[in-house]
Amino acid sequence: MLEKNQYVATLTDKSQVESIFLVKYSSLQTGKTGKAYLNLVLMDKTGELEARVWDDVPQVASMAVRDAFVWVEGSCQNFQGRKQIVVKKLQGLREDQVKIKDYLKVGEFDSEEQYKELVAFVHSMKDPYYKALAESILIDDEEIVALMKKAPAAKTIHHAYRGGLLEHVVAITKTLDFLSELYSPFVDRDLLFLGGFLHDLAKIWELSFERSTDYTDAGKLLGHLVMGIELVEKKVIALDSTSGKLSGKFPEEKKLLVKHMIASHHGSYAFGSPKEPQCLEAFIVHAIDDLDSKINSIRKFIEADTNPGKWTLLHKGMERFFYKPEWARQATELNT
Ligand SMILES: [Fe+2]
Ligand SMILES: [Fe+2]
Repeated sequence: MLEKNQYVATLTDKSQVESIFLVKYSSLQTGKTGKAYLNLVLMDKTGELEARVWDDVPQVASMAVRDAFVWVEGSCQNFQGRKQIVVKKLQGLREDQVKIKDYLKVGEFDSEEQYKELVAFVHSMKDPYYKALAESILIDDEEIVALMKKAPAAKTIHHAYRGGLLEHVVAITKTLDFLSELYSPFVDRDLLFLGGFLHDLAKIWELSFERSTDYTDAGKLLGHLVMGIELVEKKVIALDSTSGKLSGKFPEEKKLLVKHMIASHHGSYAFGSPKEPQCLEAFIVHAIDDLDSKINSIRKFIEADTNPGKWTLLHKGMERFFYKPEWARQATELNT
């Protein structure tokens, strides 16, 4: 077993690199002079950075494929405000030669603790039908529970690390709990909760995340909104066929409302929702989902920024610079 001795977060300008990384992305490019080079994104549990290979390109390209573990020798340089490794030597490794845990990005929360918080929210639900549906998915279904504790919430945009989905869902549910009280009795707490729990749940199947994160075939062909709605349909059928679980058939209207929470959570057609939110609860879930994902992605962006001083480099997606408070300036010093 090879020990990992250097991590992405601790590499600084001009440091010599001799370590193992997981290949997140690999692409053959042609430079201005017509010379081929390899553009890589290498990662470990502390972050990721780009790497360039200029020598032995075909041979290195055959080893540095996505999800491969590679031994890298080279130097770290600051390039356009970001760290980059210029690779001198690269060697492919077998999976049994490394400790996989060292290479997967994790969140700062413990997934088991987060799951307990989620279960407590499920237990606090009142409506027997909504509650039974939540239990059947989030407590009784072992496959879902196991995947949920590991899944990221997205490929890159927000909570893009192991346990990120659960962190996102628990944060949203806490906010929904507060809002349900604030706007009581005009919003249904149980319906809000189901929106929070289920809106992104099918990401456990939309994404593959055993190594680097990517979309699955089902994710590409259907996506988590359609797959989430399918899951609700399947679980309601199962509840209806389990005698003694509920006093009557799962009400059609309740099933439609739960599905609507999932169908509308991206807020608009442009963002992939087949329906815009058409009830107060769906409106709230969409707004809080959007807020939580933006808070996470802006925070991570500021944290990873390497620009010295008070301002970040340009955030391309949001077309603005962000102000860096003291904690972020300290993170920059560690990053560079
Ligand atoms: Fe979503
Ligand atoms: Fe979400």
